[in-house]
Amino acid sequence: MIHFQEFNLKDGQDRLDFLMKADLSARGFNIIGMFDNIKTVEKMRAKIREINGLAAHDPCACKYYWILNDDIIVGVITLRPTLNGFWLHNAGHIGIAIDAPYRCKKYGTAALKKMCELANNEFGIKDIISVALVDNTASRTMIEKAGGQYWDTVTAADGEEMARYWIKTK
Ligand SMILES: CC(C)(COP(=O)(O)OP(=O)(O)OC[C@H]1O[C@@H](n2cnc3c(N)ncnc32)[C@H](O)[C@@H]1OP(=O)(O)O)[C@@H](O)C(=O)NCCC(=O)NCCS
Repeated sequence: MIHFQEFNLKDGQDRLDFLMKADLSARGFNIIGMFDNIKTVEKMRAKIREINGLAAHDPCACKYYWILNDDIIVGVITLRPTLNGFWLHNAGHIGIAIDAPYRCKKYGTAALKKMCELANNEFGIKDIISVALVDNTASRTMIEKAGGQYWDTVTAADGEEMARYWIKTK
């Protein structure tokens, strides 16, 4: 059963081990790139304090959650509760990555659906914007399986072509 735990200051060695070994990347983008070179629990917690502090003050900053299947961490998902014009164009509300050994087991689709519920329940978001690189077939298929309706394709600030989708949360 997929569930989330928000990154928090009680996160310990098992979470650090995951951050150090997990393969969460796609074409150079790594959802946990800010944890590169962090090798102690103390430094990981300092980074989590920084991330959570940003999210507490800036609704356009991401909140970070572990994706667990029962007790096993299988990935990371982010929620940006508010989109300004830049984030609406370039990234959308949700970022997600499943660790490579756990892909293609429907965890991505289940987590995306669950995050849409959380976004509605906790932040009142009615329509999620979910964005994928046009050639990221895994991501686009996952979004479509989670109920995503194709909106359009835009050129992001870094020059990448991005497909944007709407997902109704209710
Ligand atoms: C995108 C990602 C999160 C999908 O997670 P996942 O757990 O593997 O996805 P699911 O198992 O729920 O698969 C959803 C659908 O996509 C399909 N799919 C998954 N990987 C695929 C691939 N590489 N090529 C084609 N289809 C793929 C699955 O078959 C499934 O369709 P089905 O239900 O008809 O079988 C995962 O591939 C990942 O972490 N990639 C790296 C990071 C990334 O690209 N994040 C997205 C950025 S927006």
